[in-house]
Amino acid sequence: MMNNLEIIRTSHLILSELTINDANFIFKLYNDRDFIRYIGDKGIASVQDAESFILQGPINSYNINNYGLCLISLLDKKPIGICGLLKRDKLDSPDIGFAILPNFRKQGYALEASRAILNDARERLQLTKILAITSSENIASIELLLKLGMVYKKMITIKEFDSKPVQLYSIQFN
Ligand SMILES: CC(C)(COP(=O)(O)OP(=O)(O)OC[C@H]1O[C@@H](n2cnc3c(N)ncnc32)[C@H](O)[C@@H]1OP(=O)(O)O)[C@@H](O)C(=O)NCCC(=O)NCCS
Repeated sequence: MMNNLEIIRTSHLILSELTINDANFIFKLYNDRDFIRYIGDKGIASVQDAESFILQGPINSYNINNYGLCLISLLDKKPIGICGLLKRDKLDSPDIGFAILPNFRKQGYALEASRAILNDARERLQLTKILAITSSENIASIELLLKLGMVYKKMITIKEFDSKPVQLYSIQFN
């Protein structure tokens, strides 16, 4: 099987580009209860849907933007989540997204991955501003964004989040 292209390695994690070989994992993650509750139902009802999503979402974004959602794996290559930058039409800067499988939460992995993604955004991609959006009920996500040094800006509505108002956060690099 083809290896995923590694983007970043941290003390406990490997962040790499998603490939269609990750469809089983994406199918599982995107149907997790908290994922659907807080991020939304992306309509990934089969492994085949997950393959199409990976192609049209992350892989398309790597080609267009030079960044996109990455697979998070432990150093032994076990996939545990996703983290990376997204570019939405409605927002003027990329926003950071993350999700971890339930069994691997609360161990600092999302924080470690997100810090690495923000660092990469500043150093390699030379971006100056990163946004984040989260539902107001998503305490774990809000706490994580604050820990990353992101600042609450305002409520916005975007169609990807079912058009329900969501909180917008921002971080600016100097
Ligand atoms: C949000 C999410 C990615 C956090 O992942 P995680 O790996 O558990 O987070 P970490 O262990 O790195 O936690 C980092 C910090 O976030 C905060 N945090 C994480 N989970 C929390 C929880 N359940 N309640 C309150 N704060 C929480 C804490 O401040 C934590 O720091 P601490 O461990 O020093 O207290 C995870 O809960 C998840 O996948 N949720 C479903 C998908 C989702 O909602 N994604 C975000 C959409 S905007």
